[in-house]
Amino acid sequence: MPIHLPLFAWMPAAAVLSLLLSAGAPVHASQQLAEKGGCNVCHAPDKKLLGPSWRDIAVKYQGQANAVTLLSQRVRKGSQGVWGPVPMPPTDARKLNDADVKAVVAWLLKPSG
Ligand code: HEC
Repeated sequence: MPIHLPLFAWMPAAAVLSLLLSAGAPVHASQQLAEKGGCNVCHAPDKKLLGPSWRDIAVKYQGQANAVTLLSQRVRKGSQGVWGPVPMPPTDARKLNDADVKAVVAWLLKPSG
C-alpha cells in the first residue's frame, strides 16, 4: 500500500519557497534601475553622499500617502531646497521612464529597502 499524502500537506513548503523567491526579485530589479538611472552616484542606502540616503528619505516620507507620486515628480523634474542647497538634476526619460522612476521610488521608500 503506497503512502498517500494528500496534496495540501505539501502546500506550506511550496508557499515558503515561492515567498523566498518572490521576496528577492523585486528588490533586485529596482536596485538595477537605480544603477541604470545613475541614482547610486549620489545616493546610498544608509549614508549621505551628494544626496540624502535612501533610509533618510524613507523616514522623512514615512506614512505619507502621496509620497510615491510626489517624489517621482521631483526625481523627474529635479529638486532643490528640500534637503539643502545642493540640487538634484532632472532625470531624463530616456534613462528611466515614468514607470521605472515610480518603481525605484517605491523601493527606496520601503523601510527595509
Ligand atoms: C547628481 C546627484 C544626484 C543624482 C544622480 C540623483 N539624485 Fe536624488 N537627490 C540629490 C540631491 C542633492 C537631493 C536633495 C535635493 C533637495 O534638497 O531638494 C536628492 C533628493 C532625492 C529625493 C528626495 C526628494 C525630496 O523632495 O525629498 C529622492 C526621492 C531622490 N533624490 C531620488 C533619486 C533617484 C530615484 C535618482 C535616480 C533616478 C536620483 N535621486 C538621482 C542628488 C542626486
